[in-house]
Amino acid sequence: MKELYLNGAFVAPEEAMISVMDRGFLFGDGVYEVIPAYAGRPLRELEHLQRLENSLRGIGLEPPLSASAWSAIFQRLLSATPTADQALYLQVTRGVAPTRDHRFPRSPVPTVLVMAKPMKVRDPVIAERGVAAVTRDDIRWLRCDIKATALLAAVLLRQSAEEAGAEEAILVRDGMALEGSTSNLFMIRDGGLITPPKGPLLLAGITRDLVLELAAVAQIPIAERAIAVEELRTADEVWISSSTREVMPVTRLDGVSVGSGHPGPLWQRIDACYQDFKADLRRAAA
Ligand code: PDD
Repeated sequence: MKELYLNGAFVAPEEAMISVMDRGFLFGDGVYEVIPAYAGRPLRELEHLQRLENSLRGIGLEPPLSASAWSAIFQRLLSATPTADQALYLQVTRGVAPTRDHRFPRSPVPTVLVMAKPMKVRDPVIAERGVAAVTRDDIRWLRCDIKATALLAAVLLRQSAEEAGAEEAILVRDGMALEGSTSNLFMIRDGGLITPPKGPLLLAGITRDLVLELAAVAQIPIAERAIAVEELRTADEVWISSSTREVMPVTRLDGVSVGSGHPGPLWQRIDACYQDFKADLRRAAA
C-alpha cells in the first residue's frame, strides 16, 4: 500500500498516526465498511455509503463526508493499482477526547480512515469442495445491524471456527440461525432460496441483497424468513456471503455433510451470475 487516507490527508501507512485517546482505540466507538472494487469500480458504492449512514445514525454521529467526497477518496486510492481487484476499508470513529469518559464528547471530531488492499483470489478448492462451518451461540449484542468496529464477539467466534478447522461460525440465537460471524446466511430447500429477514440481530449485507436480486433474475423462488438451526442441518444447500468472500457453498456443518456434501447446483448458478456481475463491472471500467 503506497498511501492511505486519514483525516483529510493521503499519507504513507507508516506515517499515519492516531492518538491513543481516540475513542475507536479506547472503546471500539466507531463504525466501518468494506467495499469490494473490481478494476477500480466499487461494487454497490451507494448502498455501502447508505449503510454507513445508517450505522453512523445508529451511534449518534453525523456523516463526516458527502457521497461525492467519499467517492473521490476511493478513486484516488484505487488508482494506485487501477486494474487490480481491491477491498476498500473505511472507518469512522468518534475521534479523540481529552479524557477517557464513556459519555460522548460535546463536539466530536470524527477520525476518518480509508485504506485499499488487494482482494484475495478465491481458492479454486472452494468451488470444488465448498467450506466447513460450525454453529455457535450468538454472543454478540442486540444491534448487529450497526456495522460497529467493536468486534470482540465476532473475533472470538471467528477464531473458534478457525480452531475447529472451519471457515465460518454460523450464529444461533434462540434456536434460530441468523448469519455468520462475518457473513450472511442462505439455505436451499425444495428448490427455493431462504435467508433470515433483516432486523437488529443481523447485518444487512450488501452481498446478501445482490444475491437476492440475482436469484430473482434467475427465477429462483425466494423467502426471507427465520431459519431454525435444525432446519439448516437438513437443507439441500447452505451458502454464506460477504463482500470479500462473495457467495461460498458450505458443504459441512458441525462435521456433517450438507445435502450431497458438494457445492450444489443452485450455488453453481448463483456463483456464475455473481461472476458475470463482476465481469460487467470490470468491463464498464475499461
Ligand atoms: N463483514 N454479517 C456480518 C456480521 C459481517 O461482518 C459481514 C461482512 C456480513 C456481510 O456483509 P457484506 O455483504 O455487506 O460484506 C454479514 C465484512 C466483510 C468484514 O467485517 O470484514
